[in-house]
Amino acid sequence: MDMVEKFRLTGRTAFITGGARGIGKAVAEGFASAGASVVIADVDIDEASKTAAALGSQYGVGTLATRTDVTSQESVNDLISAIDERFGRLDIAFCNAGICINEKAEDMTLEQWSRVIGINLTGVFITAQAAGRYMIAKGTRGSIINTASMSAHIVNVPQPQCAYNASKAGVIQLTKSLAVEWAPHGIRVNSISPGYIGTELVKASPTLIPLIKTWNDMAPMHRLGEPEELQSVTLYLASDASSFTTGSDVVVDGAFTCF
Ligand SMILES: NC(=O)c1ccc[n+]([C@@H]2O[C@H](COP(=O)([O-])OP(=O)(O)OC[C@H]3O[C@@H](n4cnc5c(N)ncnc54)[C@H](O)[C@@H]3O)[C@@H](O)[C@H]2O)c1
Repeated sequence: MDMVEKFRLTGRTAFITGGARGIGKAVAEGFASAGASVVIADVDIDEASKTAAALGSQYGVGTLATRTDVTSQESVNDLISAIDERFGRLDIAFCNAGICINEKAEDMTLEQWSRVIGINLTGVFITAQAAGRYMIAKGTRGSIINTASMSAHIVNVPQPQCAYNASKAGVIQLTKSLAVEWAPHGIRVNSISPGYIGTELVKASPTLIPLIKTWNDMAPMHRLGEPEELQSVTLYLASDASSFTTGSDVVVDGAFTCF
């Protein structure tokens, strides 16, 4: 097979949680440019609808926007039903929605902790489980990609974010567990661990904006990553090009975690 052909997603359907903006939006664009129909699943339905419409008109692929809250099993089940009704198949799940709360460990409330774990870890479990159940029932040899973070590997400084770091470490071990359990079904499960990426999560946070220079000084490449720099790695993981890659975590951080 032609090597480039292995990266094509023509005829496949992907959902992207947190796909309205940031990393999810860029990855959705990467999938659409490779020919996949894309489902933008986000709590922000207005932004999700705009993203879906833009990708549909630019790449001529099928699109759908859903108001999906990854912390709710009912909401995620509705997402799967909407995909089934519209496309009749699901090949790729990008479980990506996430938030960060910066708070010192000694001051963090249980409510803050639970919110971060609820979206970043339990939300990934809920969405990956729903995708896996659907793929198993349909006999689809699908690909599930979860967004972890370099924060699963190192402790970010100077901002305190223990719940976030713990949630992302959990995503990597959840990913490996699902990869082992679902390998017999032909479903592959991998994660990505981005370094600092210039999205709204970072650039729109008043507490984080002043830290960007500090991080860039610490970073070997002295810059943030761009969301588009995660398109090729997720296309690799989503496509047949990665047919023997499962249970892996791919760090994309410009060498930030190397020392
Ligand atoms: N930006 C970074 O530096 C960076 C680095 C490593 C990992 N990540 C991870 O990448 C993922 C995306 O981050 P981003 O920077 O694009 O963030 P972002 O804030 O720009 O976008 C996140 C999207 O998720 C949506 N969302 C939030 N809660 C949701 C919920 N409960 N259900 C469904 N959607 C929800 C938001 O509406 C938003 O559209 C997150 O998991 C984040 O932890 C980000």
